[in-house]
Amino acid sequence: MRIKELLNLRFSAAMQAAGIPSECSPTLALSGKPQFGDYQANGAMGAAKRLKTNPRELAAKILENLDLDGIADKLEIAGPGFINIYLSNDFLANSVAQSAVKLKKNANPQTVVVDYSSPNLAKEMHVGHLRSTIIGDSIARVLEYQGHKVVRQNHMGDWGTQFGMLIAELEQHLGEGEQAALALNDLEVFYQQSKKHFDEDPGFADTARAYVVKLQSGDQHCRTLWQKFIDVSVAHNLEIYKELNVGLSREHIMPESAYNNDLQNVLDDLTAQGLAVESDGAKVVFLEELADKNGDPSPMIIQKSGGGFLYATSDLAAMRHRVNNLHADRILYYIDARQSLHMKQVFTAARKAGYAAQTVSLEHHPFGTMMGKDGKPFKTRSGGTVKLADLLVEAVERAERLIREKNTDLDDQEINLIARKVGIGAVKYADLSKTRTNDYIFDWDAMMSFEGNTAPYLQYAYTRIRSIFRKAGIDPQSFSAEINIVEPQEKTLTMKLLQFEEIIDQVASEGYPHILCNYVYELASAFMSFYEQCPVLKDDVAKETQNSRLQLSKQTSETIAQGLDLLGIEVMEKM
Ligand code: ARG
Repeated sequence: MRIKELLNLRFSAAMQAAGIPSECSPTLALSGKPQFGDYQANGAMGAAKRLKTNPRELAAKILENLDLDGIADKLEIAGPGFINIYLSNDFLANSVAQSAVKLKKNANPQTVVVDYSSPNLAKEMHVGHLRSTIIGDSIARVLEYQGHKVVRQNHMGDWGTQFGMLIAELEQHLGEGEQAALALNDLEVFYQQSKKHFDEDPGFADTARAYVVKLQSGDQHCRTLWQKFIDVSVAHNLEIYKELNVGLSREHIMPESAYNNDLQNVLDDLTAQGLAVESDGAKVVFLEELADKNGDPSPMIIQKSGGGFLYATSDLAAMRHRVNNLHADRILYYIDARQSLHMKQVFTAARKAGYAAQTVSLEHHPFGTMMGKDGKPFKTRSGGTVKLADLLVEAVERAERLIREKNTDLDDQEINLIARKVGIGAVKYADLSKTRTNDYIFDWDAMMSFEGNTAPYLQYAYTRIRSIFRKAGIDPQSFSAEINIVEPQEKTLTMKLLQFEEIIDQVASEGYPHILCNYVYELASAFMSFYEQCPVLKDDVAKETQNSRLQLSKQTSETIAQGLDLLGIEVMEKM
């Protein structure tokens, strides 16, 4: 059980015994400073206000009824009525020993649909897709770790108007005898070419427009061309996911086109319910719930006047699928903050239409933009969009240079492997460790540093612990010893280890991976202070003390590795 949960139960019982109404919470928190104990219960003040009595006296009454035998050594009332709790070292040592058993059984597993990555297939994946891909993946891992059923949905954009232009272009290339794979070798170049064609050649533009309509109405020729294009683009994305160590594969792809046959049904249903109405030839749902300052309802177009369906229509169809067929209890959308209005419209319309009952939690988890060091959206030197594939190659190259500077006794193969983990890890961690709702500055030097809150620092901390075991000639896997807390650094480290599950709970419910990053960083830092103060392998360290410290070291390395794994970052034994 989480320590906070345990304290909460004991305090609630004591408060009740002291005659305090059960709505009053003990409000437990970690103490900010050691002179205030390890945890604080601050609920006496609120309760006293309610009962119109003296908070310090009420705190004393709570203490009279409180049973923390074997859990706390000391309890004290401070200031206006805070209760400071000093946990017992034995209790902490026992708790941490039990926490090492990693048994994940969830009494209330939920089905959580996570919509992430979801790039548009018309172009090559670029840095704009990085954030959704890695933040979404981390949250999916965290939820899975907690024993929930996670259904990843990659809502790829494969159905927009651009595809008419792209397949018209592809048709020309194939007509000239070129192979599809070759023509589409560089999707970015291909896109620019066809765009140029479209803008400069009216005949081509007409064909392109006709092809969109034909494609969407199921024309075989257009469909075949489209499929060729999609296959190449999807293959490219899957390669990136693999390189990024992201858990998305073919089976998670549920693109916009998959809902094509359901779009008319959505429209018919919304019309029958009186929610979609005609407006200038289009079909629109007007949402009073999202009215602007003037009281005008927010319009959500379901079908254009020409008959075409829109992004919002697919999202409503996707919502029905996720609720009815996937049985989602929670649906999380990792999408750019600029789509906030779109998401609000989709959620509001879905509730009104009965596509998602109130019991289904609909959550848009937005994120800001990736910026360059100049404070403008991240671009290449010549001002183009940065291809994700290029960015990842550069990350690995930079990591390799760094490792070669530091270490000479690794062979080339080891260096390559480590460079991949460090380079990719650095890029991912730099993103994950920032509060996702803010914009963030992409800075190679900062993310590749071995100091501070970075992936290389944490990976290095892990290898350092593993090297202690190598030096001692002990296999950490089979090592186990009793923990005995004596030094304050040992206590701090133990407390940190014990917070892991609480942190995971928070990340799972709020969807902010930076909370986990900060935790792993603090844990590694607590270990470094411990290691400075508490020698492990020195000759004059008693055997029992040594074993206890080795056990703490072992659990720290496992928790760092587990934390990083939930962030999608790999560790290695040496670097
Ligand atoms: N393809 C869209 C884009 O690149 C993102 C889709 C996000 N998911 C969704 N269900 N709308 O902007």
